[in-house]
Amino acid sequence: MPDIKDIGLADLGKKRVEWASREMPVLKLIREEFRSKKPFKGIKIGCCLHVTTETANLVLTLKEGGADVSLCASNPLSTQDDAAAFLVKEGIDVYAIKGESNKKYYEHIESVILKKPDITIDDGCDLTVEAHKRNIIPLGGTEETTTGVIRLRSMEKSGNLKFPVIAVNDAQTKHLFDNRYGTGQSTIDGILRATNILLAGKKFVVAGYGMCGKGVAIRARGMGAHVIVVEVDPIRALEAVMDGFEVMDMDSAATIGDVFVTVTGNKSVITIENIKKMKDGAILSNSGHFDVEIEVAKMRELFKSREIRPFVEEFDVDGKKVYLLAQGRLVNLAAAEGHPSAVMDMSFANQSLSALYILENHRKLEKKVYKVPDEIDRRVAELKLKSMGIKIQELSEEQRKYLSSWEEGT
Ligand SMILES: NC(=O)c1ccc[n+]([C@@H]2O[C@H](COP(=O)([O-])OP(=O)(O)OC[C@H]3O[C@@H](n4cnc5c(N)ncnc54)[C@H](O)[C@@H]3O)[C@@H](O)[C@H]2O)c1
Repeated sequence: MPDIKDIGLADLGKKRVEWASREMPVLKLIREEFRSKKPFKGIKIGCCLHVTTETANLVLTLKEGGADVSLCASNPLSTQDDAAAFLVKEGIDVYAIKGESNKKYYEHIESVILKKPDITIDDGCDLTVEAHKRNIIPLGGTEETTTGVIRLRSMEKSGNLKFPVIAVNDAQTKHLFDNRYGTGQSTIDGILRATNILLAGKKFVVAGYGMCGKGVAIRARGMGAHVIVVEVDPIRALEAVMDGFEVMDMDSAATIGDVFVTVTGNKSVITIENIKKMKDGAILSNSGHFDVEIEVAKMRELFKSREIRPFVEEFDVDGKKVYLLAQGRLVNLAAAEGHPSAVMDMSFANQSLSALYILENHRKLEKKVYKVPDEIDRRVAELKLKSMGIKIQELSEEQRKYLSSWEEGT
């Protein structure tokens, strides 16, 4: 039996899922192909993803392809209950309720695992790890995000990975767009929806200058904030300097920042010691996958708090007020709606084609983390450009030869 908040929300969900689909033309093309060929007939697909209107479009695409799909959330706070209700009406087994406890979150993952999926589609690696713990081993899986790929590589390295997984995150048409433009825009959206603050003139600290951090930094600057970057990698830190951002360590940034965003995939990026040094009114948020980037558990132990607005918790830090957004969980998904559909179109096109690749090639694959095949990556880019009505330059035969030769110089 599915476990969702309220089936009565299905009509609202249906309209919002349709709205998202307008911006997902690549996935639509794949859906049409799946509809006619039914490649997943008789195949069970278990998904652990943010339950959003975009995910609903992915899940329905897999269903059109003949799959029996079940879905749980990849974060306790990111579920859109109306999208979940609509999917249940469409015959998908959904186990996800926005705001569910950690215990419920893992029970929901277990419900998907107990269906014994042939293919898993994961976001953050929790489904994969829990399936391993119960020794339920699918033919293969895919992984959506940086943090999940890091965990998978560690499982592979230690000999613990028991099935092949495609690192969808690492496709160029995923991380160059979803992580950068998607996280960039939606993180700012989450902060603004939660707080309604003016960003112009604020000192805005971004911890992590990876694909996501770059997107957040550039969007915050575009809205007039003074952006400070905190990085541990000297090359990325230098890149941030050359991109025109101020770079410093967290200890220094803590004393001057008005708004903080962590987006590193690491833990304790903002510590209690940092928080004690912050200005009265500082706002803390996280857009990295797990809620461990800010020391939230210790904040709760040490300081009293109250909810002052939805998704805004006011902490009394030795007489000063410090505000934590969305409990330190992904602010873009908890306080806003996650990435815009147009960017998830590419990520989920990669997901559906990678799931198909797993189905067709699992016998040849080892228990390893694989790249998305180049032909899938290029196909997604070509389809996206086509859907945007953009024609790109083609290489002439002469140019192709020139680029693969060495004889010709000046
Ligand atoms: N919010 C979303 O919707 C969303 C979307 C995609 C990815 N993510 C998550 O965001 C996180 C970052 O993803 P990414 O693709 O940008 O990863 P990335 O590996 O490209 O970048 C992470 C950066 O953080 C830096 N870093 C590590 N520890 C740090 C520390 N203590 N202080 C400062 N910098 C530090 C690293 O050096 C690296 O440059 C991951 O957890 C990923 O799963 C979230």
